[in-house]
Amino acid sequence: VPLSHFFLSQRLQPGDKAIDATCGNGQDTLLMARLVGEAGHVWAFDIQEDALCRTGELLAAEGVAGRVTLHHAGHERLRETVTERVKVVVFNLGYLPGGDHTLTTNAATTVAALQQSAELLLPGGIIVVALYTGQAGGVEEEEAVVRWGERLSPVAFNVWVHRQLNRSSAAPYLLLLEKV
Ligand SMILES: C[S@@+](CC[C@H](N)C(=O)[O-])C[C@H]1O[C@@H](n2cnc3c(N)ncnc32)[C@H](O)[C@@H]1O
Repeated sequence: VPLSHFFLSQRLQPGDKAIDATCGNGQDTLLMARLVGEAGHVWAFDIQEDALCRTGELLAAEGVAGRVTLHHAGHERLRETVTERVKVVVFNLGYLPGGDHTLTTNAATTVAALQQSAELLLPGGIIVVALYTGQAGGVEEEEAVVRWGERLSPVAFNVWVHRQLNRSSAAPYLLLLEKV
């Protein structure tokens, strides 16, 4: 999360548009709402009503709710909702901390949402994906995301993997994609 927030802070400017593809407890949404300022906008997705409530309450408490549209929908339907080009899309995969551990992201819908995100991205825009493999289906999802990233044209995208060398190979890690 700190590394993901570092990248978001580097790239998002006041007035930018961004998407939180998995808003959960709303920490990423809140950071992006602050960074885009009053002139910017954030669209946040989650399949759980509970997650959207927690995010909505956090944004309201921090006075930035007006900059965010919350969508009770799967991120695989992202393009039905967001038609504008965006600077950043963030995915924090897995399950909602403190919630139902069986309601996790999965390979098919995550890859569909990543593909749609890549199409919506502005040149110089980034997609940040936090990957976990511990939950059921986590390894399959990771493999599908990595395969998708490997196949992107190097002319159109830069794709990096950020891992901690001094942690177990099962530790969460980050994928960073930049549209050239
Ligand atoms: C690890 S949590 C996100 C944590 C969040 N970024 C935060 O700062 O608290 C993953 C979230 O993805 C959501 N999710 C699972 N499948 C989804 C899908 N198809 N579309 C959107 N959200 C999904 C879960 O409900 C869960 O809240």
